[in-house]
Amino acid sequence: MSLYYQDDSVTLYQGRCEDILPTLSLTGSVHLITDPPYFQVKDAEWDNQWSRAAEFLDWMGEWLTLAKPLLSADASVWVFASPELTSAVESVVARDFRVLNSVRWVKEQGWHKKAELDAMRSFLSPWEGIVFAERLDDAYGEAALALHRKVFAPLGRYLQTEWERAGWKAGAVGKALGYDSALPVRWAEGSSLPTADAYRRLRDLLNAGDSAEYLRREYEDLRREYEDLRRPFSIRTRDRSTDVWFFDNVAPYPGKHPCEKPFGLLTHIIETTTRPGDTVLDCFAGSGAILDVARQLGRKAVGIEMDAHWCKQAAKRLGQQTFDFSEFRGIR
Ligand SMILES: C[S@@+](CC[C@H](N)C(=O)[O-])C[C@H]1O[C@@H](n2cnc3c(N)ncnc32)[C@H](O)[C@@H]1O
Repeated sequence: MSLYYQDDSVTLYQGRCEDILPTLSLTGSVHLITDPPYFQVKDAEWDNQWSRAAEFLDWMGEWLTLAKPLLSADASVWVFASPELTSAVESVVARDFRVLNSVRWVKEQGWHKKAELDAMRSFLSPWEGIVFAERLDDAYGEAALALHRKVFAPLGRYLQTEWERAGWKAGAVGKALGYDSALPVRWAEGSSLPTADAYRRLRDLLNAGDSAEYLRREYEDLRREYEDLRRPFSIRTRDRSTDVWFFDNVAPYPGKHPCEKPFGLLTHIIETTTRPGDTVLDCFAGSGAILDVARQLGRKAVGIEMDAHWCKQAAKRLGQQTFDFSEFRGIR
């Protein structure tokens, strides 16, 4: 293994990830992993290392299994895949992780608009798959369940007591807050917890007095503990809330990596599924785009790249701030 580049936030190693992953002292401390090759999509040696799809899928399982011990209990996994192999890749990911979405990254620029309609025998696929999964871990499940019991059940009882004291029924509370009228019943049963905003609005509605202040503080502390344990997932805008994404590819420039991922897409992935200070691991660092965006978003990043040329390019990019990040934030 060779350390190729390092700064306060980013470390890049040169080598094959199968060799490097077992040597990293990062057990349980990585919050996001991503970006392997696709298999025979790109005209590059690294995407044609396997003669058959089955061999590629075996390798996919191998690196994911090697990466798993490095992941924190609340980690997210993002695996890009070609349309042809997305469902097979999803099955491989599902062996070690719980698959949450199979995102369609739709490219509107594309070749599909020029296809000869008469020659077609099936529909075109102007998208790339991105399998999104979480770590499925017994210890995490037990800790979450225990905290769930500790937080949800007493709070559910407390909330119910509060609205009954104020003369409300559960259904009416739900309607008054603009929710499904059954939601407060789920809060009372402890099967769901109000969001911080719903809780504030509920308190305003019931006009709870100062006597409940200590409970409010307890609620906020427990909720924070619960949020810290949960896998981060925060969506800021409704147009980013579905698993169909529209991001343009990175425009060609001399020396561009054939698979450089666009800033908007990387920002969406990293901001949605990690917290500031978390660690992102790209075992296939290529251009270094993921390491760069992670760093600019206040995350730590570890990269592995086997190709000396791409290590050099990534280090160059990381060593000089080439891109004005603010310009890319708005890209759809
Ligand atoms: C899909 S591209 C990654 C693109 C990159 N994340 C970006 O945004 O520029 C895959 C990269 O993984 C590298 N690679 C392929 N197999 C590898 C392996 N076993 N270990 C480490 N790097 C590998 C290739 O050289 C290639 O640069």
